[in-house]
Amino acid sequence: MSKRIDGKQISLEVKERVRLGVQELAAQGVSVGLAVIIVGDDPASKIYVSNKKKACEALGIDSREYALPADTAQADLLELIDRLNKDSHINGILCQLPLPKHLDEKAVIAAISPEKDVDAFHPHNVGRIMIGDYDFVPCTPAGIMEMLAHENISVEGKNCVVIGRSNIVGKPMAMLLLHQNGTVTICHSKTRNLKEICKTADILVAAVGKANFVTADMVKEGAVVIDVGMNRADGKLCGDVDFAAVEPKAAAITPVPGGVGPMTIAMLMQNTLTAAKRQAGMPVKDR
Ligand code: GUN
Repeated sequence: MSKRIDGKQISLEVKERVRLGVQELAAQGVSVGLAVIIVGDDPASKIYVSNKKKACEALGIDSREYALPADTAQADLLELIDRLNKDSHINGILCQLPLPKHLDEKAVIAAISPEKDVDAFHPHNVGRIMIGDYDFVPCTPAGIMEMLAHENISVEGKNCVVIGRSNIVGKPMAMLLLHQNGTVTICHSKTRNLKEICKTADILVAAVGKANFVTADMVKEGAVVIDVGMNRADGKLCGDVDFAAVEPKAAAITPVPGGVGPMTIAMLMQNTLTAAKRQAGMPVKDR
């Protein structure tokens, strides 16, 4: 029997932990604040930002949204980030990606103070993830590690295959699995023998962005399958995994929706709490 990993339920547990943490800080006179910047009116980005705002409200985190027009100049965006870097009421800063084409994404990410970089996209934080000494982890890989821990799925010694090498998901995901002593392979669009490599996976993470990309013949019997995909096929939300065909083979699998997605926002909330604690000079518990 395959276990469906319930990301919705686990995310509620994480958020409850964060809510209590925020409450504890409030009792000591410390507030927690997140600034979310959105440039332009990409409909998907608007939904993500609105969900982040709602999560903040539910957990007692002050959220400030900066909705800037699509033709915002780079200098104006950098000036806003500079102001937020210096604002003591703001502990975390997130600039929703993708940005309109005329803006330099790399420069924008680098302008965010690493201490407030709750996305963990700044090169400083990326480097810290590489050496295994980090406060923030990009929210999606962090959420996946949280789900594995919640389900008592050990990574140590396992063959872990990550399909996708993005800076947001694939690369940090691979590092986190490696830090937990997994044997990690990263696959991508130029990988040869993709099917054979995937079949070696005890833990398979699909972050490709293509509906039904992972088929049953790519999955080993008893594998743990994590689906990061968010695709629309025939008007329906679906992941990167052919869920109906793969589920019977998997020991555990995340559904879409209700798997990785809800975890991402929960981990953003956790990173924001961590930022506030660090900035108040408080200890942050080891993961
Ligand atoms: N766009 C899609 N996912 C993310 C994310 O995790 N953070 C930001 N800032 N933008 C995104």
